[in-house]
Amino acid sequence: MKGLILSGGHGTRLRPITHTSAKQLVPIVNKPILFYGIEALKEAGIYDIGIIVGDTKDEIKKAVGDGSQWEVKITYIEQEKPLGLAHAVLTAEKFIGDSPFIMYLGDNVIKGGVKEFVQEFKRQTPTAQILLVKVPNPSQFGVAELEKDRVIRLVEKPKNPKSDLALVGVYLFDSNIFRAAKAIDYSQRGELEITDAIQWLVDQNLNVKSHVIKGWWKDTGKLEDLLEANRMMSDALETKIEGKVDEKSSIEFKVVIGKGAVVENSIVRGPAIIGENVTIQNAYIGPFTSISNGCKIVESEIEHSIVLEGSTISKIGHRISDSLIGKNVEILGEQRRIKNHQFMVGDNSKIELI
Ligand code: G1P
Repeated sequence: MKGLILSGGHGTRLRPITHTSAKQLVPIVNKPILFYGIEALKEAGIYDIGIIVGDTKDEIKKAVGDGSQWEVKITYIEQEKPLGLAHAVLTAEKFIGDSPFIMYLGDNVIKGGVKEFVQEFKRQTPTAQILLVKVPNPSQFGVAELEKDRVIRLVEKPKNPKSDLALVGVYLFDSNIFRAAKAIDYSQRGELEITDAIQWLVDQNLNVKSHVIKGWWKDTGKLEDLLEANRMMSDALETKIEGKVDEKSSIEFKVVIGKGAVVENSIVRGPAIIGENVTIQNAYIGPFTSISNGCKIVESEIEHSIVLEGSTISKIGHRISDSLIGKNVEILGEQRRIKNHQFMVGDNSKIELI
């Protein structure tokens, strides 16, 4: 069985971060989202993995390499334009050949991985197996209508959804999916939809199985979802302190502090992760916060936020929360604590609060 991870797309809902970076490389608990997918596939025994890349291919290749860091083999497949998930499948036809495969959307995080679904697919050998999850906002997803566990209809982002079962971005297919992807037309949003391709399989009376998952899953396309994923994944942290913490500081609950990091006269209240070579001075780092390598947090408070590499936050008297801060950002102030700021700031920005 092969794996296909989709890591193209523009990430419009995460602008401005995605003006300069791939959405799949935004870190959750200091690890790029995409790595969770690679690890989930490896854990399910899938070592031959194709990654569909688009405009951000150089960055993705640099981060992932040839897969040897996970002992898997990565093949990059270029999709010229993001023309939909079924289009991505067609782009990968040569790589997949006649092997069954799992398709995993590179911005999805599924707690507990995919091993169980892969085993079920191998046991039952349906034409396709989809994963579904109950959501409060089905019209933002592909939605399935079931009769018992038989899929009868799939609609992409319906205005009036007939069920609350959303398609999770993890699909298992045999090679019939190539016939399906060739048979369908472009949707109104100008994409070849995988949802329509699976509907085509249903219409041919081929065996399309569904599995409603109980566990936690997130499509991290938006800020709130990213922060929620960071929150969920932070829970699994175990305290590990490799940097230096002075005696005036207090480290509470589950906290990871990377090599070369320095914490002075500060409180770090977990679950939280502080990367390598980070400086924390006279600061408060609150729960569910991930600070990437090389950042500086000085005389400031931050919680429930993600800060990317090399950024500085200094003398912001108000607490920063619910924020995603890009790489090499400077947020500089001369303020006393008053109230809250919320930022979503792209890479290389500079904000001065005077
Ligand atoms: C895609 C699929 C949709 C699915 C979702 C899951 O949507 O088209 O059916 O429910 O992924 O993440 P997109 O995120 O491309 O809008």
